[in-house]
Amino acid sequence: MKKKLYNNKYEKKLKIGGGSFGSVYLVEDISTHNQYAMKKFYLDNISNGGASKQFSLLTKLKHKNIIEVIESFTNNENQYLITSYYKTNLLNIIKEKKLSERIIKGIMKQLLTSVNYLHSQNYIHRDIKPDNILISSNGILKLTDFDLCTEIPKNKNEPLSRNVITLYYKPPEIFYGDLYYGKGVDIWSIGCVFCELILGYPIFKGKCELETLGKIIEIVGAPTEKNWPGVSQLQNYLPYPEKNGILEQVFNDKISSQGLDLILKLLCLDPSQRISCEDALNLEYFSDACDENELVQELNLE
Ligand SMILES: Nc1ncnc2c1ncn2[C@@H]1O[C@H](COP(=O)(O)OP(=O)(O)O)[C@@H](O)[C@H]1O
Ligand SMILES: [Mg+2]
Repeated sequence: MKKKLYNNKYEKKLKIGGGSFGSVYLVEDISTHNQYAMKKFYLDNISNGGASKQFSLLTKLKHKNIIEVIESFTNNENQYLITSYYKTNLLNIIKEKKLSERIIKGIMKQLLTSVNYLHSQNYIHRDIKPDNILISSNGILKLTDFDLCTEIPKNKNEPLSRNVITLYYKPPEIFYGDLYYGKGVDIWSIGCVFCELILGYPIFKGKCELETLGKIIEIVGAPTEKNWPGVSQLQNYLPYPEKNGILEQVFNDKISSQGLDLILKLLCLDPSQRISCEDALNLEYFSDACDENELVQELNLE
């Protein structure tokens, strides 16, 4: 029997992921034998614009640390997006072994570089988490899954969707129903990824929104008018007695004092006081971050 081909050239090899918007497959171009990833978007669920919109977005966002797109096409049932295929993702790496701070710095530097570029183009990703960060066999991080990515509205009074960012990586302003958020939401998620690289598990792992917010309050502290002016005006704000977090205890001897300082800057409750990617990259902390070759060796990427 003849194998089914997609766009007359791609043959499915393996399912590598599945999510709310569709599935992802490893495919092979039958004439060149090159491998790619093919993401399927169901036609009845393309509120995110589907493959063609993501293709044009990713064509604009060209950067070493952002996934490379090849093409998009539609058949009768679905839309498809073809991208370069990458070896693994950060979630697998975290599960596999304990990482040294030098390796973590190298990963964080690339992640911040990628999001800094996105933010400089006036976009926010809104779903930064370890499984949306791929790593190539030559040690280059590639940010992916732009399903929830949006341009920051030029008009500051234009509300954004509250239904964004995977639970464990959601910042407090989203829990409180702030619809006028900005780049800070990605910074919080990056802070959560940093913590997960060190701890080996998600730092704010709750079963529901309330439990996750509870973890944030326990570890980082309670948002109040004092540390976050204006927070009590947000529509879902729950007043909470002043309380300091136990962040230092959580990390104890697991990280350097400079590293802990960066966590505090990324996981700052008030989004307007959260550090930017650019300022984070300029910190002395990253001066001895490991390079791509070291990542290849340490993470056995070849
Ligand atoms: N280009 C790619 N190369 C290798 N693996 C990929 C690629 N794109 C996606 N994946 C894998 O498939 C998973 C799901 O893809 P993603 O784009 O995040 O879709 P979803 O919307 O389902 O989360 C990723 O977490 C990753 O493990
Ligand atoms: Mg994803």
